[in-house]
Amino acid sequence: MSPERFDPIARVFDPDAVGTTVHLRGWVLRSRSSGGILFLILRGRTGSVQVTGRRDVLGDTSFDAVEHVQVEGVIEVEGTVAVDPRAPGGREVRATRVSVTDPGEPFPIFADQTEEFRLDKRHLAIRSQELVATFRVKAEVLRTLRAFLEREEVLEMTPPIITGNAAEGGAEAFSFDYFGRPGYLSQTAQLYLEALIVPHERVYALTPSFRAEKSRTPRHITEFLNLEIELAWCDLDGLLDFIERMFVEVCHGVAERCPKELDTLGRPPDELRAIAAPFPRITYASAIDRLKAEGFSVSWGSDLASAEERALTIAERLPLFVTRYPRELKAFYMLQSPNDPRTVEASDLLGPEGYGEIVGASCRETRIDRLEERLRAIGADLATYEWYLDLRRHGNVPHAGFGLGVERLLRWMLRRDHIRETTPFPRTPSRHTP
Ligand code: 4AD
Ligand code: MG
Repeated sequence: MSPERFDPIARVFDPDAVGTTVHLRGWVLRSRSSGGILFLILRGRTGSVQVTGRRDVLGDTSFDAVEHVQVEGVIEVEGTVAVDPRAPGGREVRATRVSVTDPGEPFPIFADQTEEFRLDKRHLAIRSQELVATFRVKAEVLRTLRAFLEREEVLEMTPPIITGNAAEGGAEAFSFDYFGRPGYLSQTAQLYLEALIVPHERVYALTPSFRAEKSRTPRHITEFLNLEIELAWCDLDGLLDFIERMFVEVCHGVAERCPKELDTLGRPPDELRAIAAPFPRITYASAIDRLKAEGFSVSWGSDLASAEERALTIAERLPLFVTRYPRELKAFYMLQSPNDPRTVEASDLLGPEGYGEIVGASCRETRIDRLEERLRAIGADLATYEWYLDLRRHGNVPHAGFGLGVERLLRWMLRRDHIRETTPFPRTPSRHTP
C-alpha cells in the first residue's frame, strides 16, 4: 500500500472527521476483547486513538488475527470516526476492515521491572510515553536553538570529532591509537571554532563531546551534545546577554509548542514562560561568601561541586550566572581578568531549582605568553597546541564563547532525576550498549 493512502492518527480528532472513513496504521499500545468486540489503542507519529472492531463486521479470520496481536504489534485499519465520550479524546474509530502487518512477540517491558533491565532493553524502552515526550522536546529544543542562531547570523560549522588535542584537560579525554600517534575523541569544538571566527566572526557547532569521567552522578554522561558558540569582538557582558536571550527563547519556544509533552513530564509550561531576562549574576567571590554563610566549608579557591551549585540555586526560579572564577579552577584558554590577575573572565550558568551547571562560558586569552604559561602549568605538550597559538599571531581579535550541554538543559527543563533520561542511548562509565 502506498503511504498516501493512510491518514495521520491525529486526523481522527479534526472537527470535521466524525462520520468520515479513515485509513490508519500503527502500533498496538494495548488491546482486549470481550463478547465479540475488540478494543485497542493504536499509536503513531501524531498520537493515539481507540479502535473498536466487531466480529460480525470484520469476519472471524480478521478478528482472530487481530485478537492475537501483541503489544507493539503492527496493524492497518479502515474505519469510521465516531464520537464516544468514554474513549480517550472523545473519539473512536469503528473498524470496517483490519489487517495484521506484524503480530509481534510478547513485549518484554512492563511495569515494575528494574532500571537495569530497562537500560538493557533501551532500544524498546525508548517507546515509553515519557521518553517519547522527551525526544519530541529535544527535537524542538534543537530546532529552536538553530532558528535563534540563524536569526543572530551565527554560522553552523563542522569541526572534527577526532583530534590530537585533549583540550579541556588531558585526564578526561578518551584516547586511542591513531595510526601510531595519540588520538582523542573531541571534548570540545572550541579550539576549532576559535580558528573559524576568522573570517566568519560568529560561528557555532552542535556536535557530540566526549568526557572519560568516571563520575557516576545524575548529571554526567560520557557522550553529550554540546552546542558551542564563538563570537569575535565579544566581551563577558555581551556574551552573557547572548546566552540569556538564547535561553529565554528556547524556554518560551518549548512552552509554546510542546505543552502536551511538558504535561506528560510534569513541567508546567508556565514555569518555562516565566523564564525572562535579566538572570541574576553574582561573582564567584560572592558565591563563596554566600556558601560560607550557609555553613559550607569553602574558601576562595574551592571548586563549586554539585552540592554547592545546588545550594546556590535550589530556591531560584531563574538561572544564575556565576562569574569570574579563580583561574586555577578553569581551562587554560580563559582570559585573565583585567582588574584581578587571580580570576578569569568566565561564567557558568547554573540551572534553577538546584540542577547545576548548564552553560560554561568565557572570554578567550589573546596573549601568547599567557597561553603558553597556562599550558605549561597544566603539563600540556606545547607542540600539539602550536596551531592554536598561531591563531594569536595572525588576525588576533578579542573573542568569547560558550558551550551549552543540551542534555543538561533538558534535565532541568523536563525535571528528570537522571541525565540519562534525556538521551535515547545514554553512555555512562558502566554502559555503552545498546
Ligand atoms: O563547561 P564545559 O566543559 O566547557 C567547554 O567544553 C567549553 N570548551 C565550551 C566552550 O566554551 N566552547 O562544557 C560545556 C557544557 C557544560 O556547561 C555542561 O552543560 C556540559 O557541557 N557538560 C556535560 N554534560 C553532560 N555530561 C558531561 N559529562 C558534561 N560535561 C560538560
Ligand atoms: Mg564547565
